[in-house]
Amino acid sequence: MATQIPLWEFEKICKAYPGVLANDNICIKLMPGSIHGLLGENGCGKSTMIKTLSGVQQPDSGKILHKGKPVHINDPQAARKFGIATVFQEFSIVPTLSVAENIFLGNMPRSTFGTIDWARMRDDASAVLAEMNVHISPDAITGTLSVGEQQLVEIAKAIAIDAKMIILDEPTAALGEDEIERLHQLLRTMRDSGTAILYVSHRLDEVERIVDEVTILRNGRVVRASGETKINVSEIVNAMVGEDIGEHYPKEFNATDEIVLEARDISTKFGVSGASITLHKGEVLGLGGVLGSGRTEIARALFGTDKLTKGTIYLNGKPIQLKSEIDAICSGIALVPENRKFDGLFFNFRASGNITAASLRSLTRFGVMNLQAEEIATRGFIDELEISTQAEEKTVNFLSGGNQQKIVIARWLFSDAQIFILDEPTQGIDIGAKIAVYKLINELTRVGKSVILISSDHDELLAMSDQIAVVQHGTIRRSVKASELTHDDLVRASTNIPELNREEKIV
Ligand SMILES: Nc1ncnc2c1ncn2[C@@H]1O[C@H](COP(=O)(O)OP(=O)(O)OP(=O)(O)O)[C@@H](O)[C@H]1O
Ligand SMILES: [Mg+2]
Repeated sequence: MATQIPLWEFEKICKAYPGVLANDNICIKLMPGSIHGLLGENGCGKSTMIKTLSGVQQPDSGKILHKGKPVHINDPQAARKFGIATVFQEFSIVPTLSVAENIFLGNMPRSTFGTIDWARMRDDASAVLAEMNVHISPDAITGTLSVGEQQLVEIAKAIAIDAKMIILDEPTAALGEDEIERLHQLLRTMRDSGTAILYVSHRLDEVERIVDEVTILRNGRVVRASGETKINVSEIVNAMVGEDIGEHYPKEFNATDEIVLEARDISTKFGVSGASITLHKGEVLGLGGVLGSGRTEIARALFGTDKLTKGTIYLNGKPIQLKSEIDAICSGIALVPENRKFDGLFFNFRASGNITAASLRSLTRFGVMNLQAEEIATRGFIDELEISTQAEEKTVNFLSGGNQQKIVIARWLFSDAQIFILDEPTQGIDIGAKIAVYKLINELTRVGKSVILISSDHDELLAMSDQIAVVQHGTIRRSVKASELTHDDLVRASTNIPELNREEKIV
């Protein structure tokens, strides 16, 4: 492999945005038949590199070489002609179109008369989905699918072009363990047939499993390129952060016996089917389960988004009726939604407006906004979650994907709720920010608040929860103390593989 010519090469690529040198003299070689991990903290310049290689933007200086020859990738169509397919961090699907239409958007098969060949498009879409081992109908309207399924459609779009170079910017952020494994299998097959793959992820366990080589960025520069050596996660983390970060999961145990929230036998029209949960003061209750198991739907029911068709929710022992999300917020329930890419942010506001949006009342006196209090609150969160300091001056649409997510999390933590439902709170954020979120969870439970944590990262869920409720088909199959479960047990329990031979309580 050492003598092979790289399929694509960056030679001293620089790219600046107003006020930031996002890529500073980047050199990277992407080899055919290799999965190359691109890693680094939020805002270090990964997506910037990807946009340059995908023809979305032009570099300020430096050369891009294709099989050793300098080329210009003038626009995304040119990238496609070069055989580059990209799954961008931000979704690019059109929610009102069908899955098949999205997969072939801009590239629809034509009949001999030049009209769109719908039958062929549908068959081709089915073939791509089958190749991915994904069970989604090509006729489904994409907007009605779950975030994870929409992510799979994004990936299908890239796979449908016969690409020589596949770029995936955080492809697994919305996927469960099962889907990740299937995606990996597919990528390995493509790699083995000679495709070059560039892979960005903040899930380091996953990176260790899939990549052949890594490049690590910090502040727009390459700080390490591993070549073909074996990848070791703790070395990666140290290179990313620039220091030894110590404990990954700084769990504190603050659960008490006092019940704050109880859902008894609740159902909704949207996939909750007789679920019962009990949440104690100071407790972190983890909801485990695979993608589509109904965890998000349970969260939506508890937050008043979807109405109950059956069952009752009790708050501090009293039955409550949540007719809307406003009712939930007024009852002291907060939800950090999973779907942050779509509905979490006001893109034209700065961080401060976004963070304080859920708690304007506490910042308003006699109907007048206390701007100074807003700035102080924002600054606190920017420090704590290590949000890019640019967030204070710029509107959020100019921030990196991970920094945008941190802002949505900050908003809900700032609201004065008693119960926090966190749906995949660490998806797409870097290891430093993940630890900051864990510490915030500790702070919440320390002062007697309670947390329902949904996470597809099994290690995180096990380490940060007191109790784990395993969700399947919209109901709780079992509830077990987190300390009594191993990673394997949780995978088995979530995927219905029998045998969980520890003491367990059937709810
Ligand atoms: N369109 C833009 N205008 C101005 N600044 C930008 C723009 N896009 C990105 N930036 C800035 O460039 C830097 C690099 O951002 P980039 O999106 O490449 O980071 P990233 O490594 O992909 O981060 P993440 O892991 O959060 O996705 C950040 O400081 C970001 O705020
Ligand atoms: Mg990015």
